[in-house]
Amino acid sequence: MKIGVLTSGGDCPGLNAVIRGITRKGGQEGHEVVGILNGWKGLFDESYITLDMKSVAGIVNRGGTILGTSRFGPFQQENGAEILQHKVARAEFDAIIAIGGEGSMHIAQQCHELGINIVGVPKTIDNDLSGTDYTFGFDTAVQIATEAIDRLHTTAESHHRVMILEVMGRHAGWIALYSGIAGGADSIIIPEMKVKIDEVCEVLKSRYKRGKLFSIIVVAEGAEYLLEEMKVEDSEKKKDEFGRARLGGISYFLANEIEKKTGFETRTTILGHVQRGGVPTAFDRVLGTRFGIYSVEMIIDKKFGRMCALQGSDIKDIPIQDAIGKLKTVDLNIYKAAKVFFK
Ligand code: F6P
Repeated sequence: MKIGVLTSGGDCPGLNAVIRGITRKGGQEGHEVVGILNGWKGLFDESYITLDMKSVAGIVNRGGTILGTSRFGPFQQENGAEILQHKVARAEFDAIIAIGGEGSMHIAQQCHELGINIVGVPKTIDNDLSGTDYTFGFDTAVQIATEAIDRLHTTAESHHRVMILEVMGRHAGWIALYSGIAGGADSIIIPEMKVKIDEVCEVLKSRYKRGKLFSIIVVAEGAEYLLEEMKVEDSEKKKDEFGRARLGGISYFLANEIEKKTGFETRTTILGHVQRGGVPTAFDRVLGTRFGIYSVEMIIDKKFGRMCALQGSDIKDIPIQDAIGKLKTVDLNIYKAAKVFFK
């Protein structure tokens, strides 16, 4: 079989482990593995590379994706469906493995409905894809954010400041929640939970009263949609290639409000793409490797239209449709545990 592999959407630590797993397993089973460059765009451009033992040597520990990625939406193009089918046939792909997040899985589902043999591998640092307990990349992002909180702690304490760390998380606050708990945050603001700035200020003031002259707040970028005090118009924002508003900056607004309401000096750090780059953790390398190998087995077993998923400690597969129906928002029991420390 000729298997095409692509990575689509935001990059994510662990992608290269998946590509390596696919290539090694595919090769051992006697299949030809071809890398499609820069996401779905590579199919349109017919940009392909051969994936073999040599091309994937030494990449398990590398961040990013050796295939390149984009947020190119094939079905947003004129005659997109026809072009896509034509390109798949021309490249003589018997099957495609699409490694991506929610947006990419939507595209994979549409491909499946067109009759293209496709399987999905879930990827996002945001950890918001349903059907899988974890996506690779999330653990690395949490690790980086936690280290950032640890570093902010010492400087916050020395200067008696409030420090806000803004992390990624468009619709779900998984990174903020996990890193906030691990780093001992005094307040965690996530898109899932409505919060008033006054409530946050009360926590800061009560800490001050008991002699804690510094505080750490972790906020997910997507929380800007729920802060009643902050009016955001998506139409005024720059868009990414999928047409979604580019987020980032809620922490500046928050810092301003907190300073006004409490008089405490408040500083901001936006972690940005630092949390998405660099070497993956061991957990993400292992998960990526297992997903890669499993996705080849799915193709051999003709489990098309399905996505591999981590359930407990097992890798299973579910219909792609089930993964994209609803986003996996944070477990509110974990948020309740975090709240014990917002005092
Ligand atoms: O991949 C999802 C994500 O990490 C979101 O949390 C964030 O809003 C977005 O990517 C940023 O992506 P880009 O680098 O394309 O602006």
